[in-house]
Amino acid sequence: MSRALGTTAREERTWWKEAVVYQIYPRSFNDSNGDGVGDIPGITENVDYLDSLGVDVVWLCPVYDSPNVDNGYDIRDYRAILDEFGTMADWEELLSALHARDIRLVMDLVVNHTSDEHEWFQKSRRRKDGYEEYYYWRDGAPDEPPNNWESIFGGSAWSYDEVREQWYLHLFDEHQPDLNWRNPDVRDEVKELVMWWLEKGIDGFRMDAINFLSKADGLPDGDPERQLVGSEHYHHGPHIHEYLQELHDETLARYDVMTVGEMGGTSIEEAADYLADGGGRLDMVFQFNHLTVDWGADGQWSLDGWGEWDLTTFKKVVTRSQNDLAGEFWDALFLGNHDLPRIVSRFGDDGAFRRESATLIATFLLTLRGTPYLYQGDELGMTNTAFDSLDEVDDPMTTGIVEELLAEDAVDSFDEVTDLVDYMSRDHARTPMQWSGDENAGFTDGEPWFAVNENYPDINAETAMADEESVWHHYRELIQLRHDEETLVYGEYDLLLPDDEQFYAYTRSHVRETLLVVLNWSTESARFDCPGLDTDGAELLVSNDPDTPANPVEREFRPYEAAVYRLDGGES
Ligand code: GLC
Ligand code: CA
Repeated sequence: MSRALGTTAREERTWWKEAVVYQIYPRSFNDSNGDGVGDIPGITENVDYLDSLGVDVVWLCPVYDSPNVDNGYDIRDYRAILDEFGTMADWEELLSALHARDIRLVMDLVVNHTSDEHEWFQKSRRRKDGYEEYYYWRDGAPDEPPNNWESIFGGSAWSYDEVREQWYLHLFDEHQPDLNWRNPDVRDEVKELVMWWLEKGIDGFRMDAINFLSKADGLPDGDPERQLVGSEHYHHGPHIHEYLQELHDETLARYDVMTVGEMGGTSIEEAADYLADGGGRLDMVFQFNHLTVDWGADGQWSLDGWGEWDLTTFKKVVTRSQNDLAGEFWDALFLGNHDLPRIVSRFGDDGAFRRESATLIATFLLTLRGTPYLYQGDELGMTNTAFDSLDEVDDPMTTGIVEELLAEDAVDSFDEVTDLVDYMSRDHARTPMQWSGDENAGFTDGEPWFAVNENYPDINAETAMADEESVWHHYRELIQLRHDEETLVYGEYDLLLPDDEQFYAYTRSHVRETLLVVLNWSTESARFDCPGLDTDGAELLVSNDPDTPANPVEREFRPYEAAVYRLDGGES
């Protein structure tokens, strides 16, 4: 695939390469009117909070009108704000409040599917003129789906519509029918809505499930042995690059905006194709290879073998994306989001070493090559919660999968999967933001839509901001460091000690400067010996331990100790 003429992508300086992104899940961020649901005015009330943390961009999860089967990822009207979240005027006020603080706003673009309540689907199921082919419709007896594809949320990817008396495809929930991107009218509709938001002055899009848009000709059966049956026919389907390039050229390319595509089921090499000219020219992709290290053999919801991961494998995977994505193009750095467990619970220790491990993870995210994405509450070291029954679970993916396991007799009761759900559920990230030690963590004056994590009296923003040693202050300090040190943004990444089981260490070098990052990613102390590394005159820039000495080499690092040094005594 050919790239843009002129400079290579890696040499171009852009604001989004220098930015730190903060992701907001609006339902759980802050409730301004006591109805228990976070809302847009609730975010506007907290723009100073975001500003003091130092972030440059907010990625706002969907706030569009939606029946909320999948918390807004099922859109009923792309040009309206969900009532519960406020009005378009509230949204405009948020945009200006952010822009007034030099914080940009990136919106979520969910165009693989709509809600089944979207006007297009309602017209399509009634075969209204011009809308017949907006979705994937197939004939067939009501008890026999047109092919064997499975939904990502469990069960068949097809549902029978009694109105049209045909089957329709939904890769996610049955209330999220897939748009038929082969239809040029559908592509035009998407371009129009993209332009509509760009004209409002937003600064980019995070593109939901974007590598799923193009489906194989004839929608053939998938290999029944695959983890997700059918996925080989729509992960990077035949026209995907063409569709995205067209969208880019006709809309996005005319604005100074950033794009990041969410890409499940992709290799790092396949992900890189989307960054190239001709491939879609996305600025960044979220690929998940580093987030499968703790899955069992049957994928994310394997009943066995989950929860264990080793640092050397993790380093290998991250290093590949540092080389293959950030090497020629750019990387999106993230460990958590609204679909994933809390990062300190998954990759750190949310018990005895919560502060230490949360700050180590922060150091990792903010010192690699790429654009860091922070998820709300991770700056406080928020942790997973626990679920005692399926009734306490809200996430349609978790409930769908558990129901499928029960239906298939893979398990007899919820009890058998409680541990797995407690580990994996997307709900962990969706408990309300913990603002203070007040009732409901200060998230709402009413009844929160989803239970607050019980640890809020200890873990909350008010307490964290008052404590210089807190996770919050560490994030703030690292964000500042990233803004000050060009090397952390543009420098080369070189892994040290690839086979070490405890240390994740690397250098970042740019022009004549080298920075060293040392992370003791374990619950045990360890001695850092790195033959050949010249540390004379090393200067400590940031550490999560007040006793970290200046010279990193040949000394004990405490559990989860994390430090950043300048190696050659400053820029020459
Ligand atoms: C993406 C979103 C997720 C949603 C799904 C369907 O994976 O991040 O929250 O459920 O797409 O839109
Ligand atoms: Ca509210």
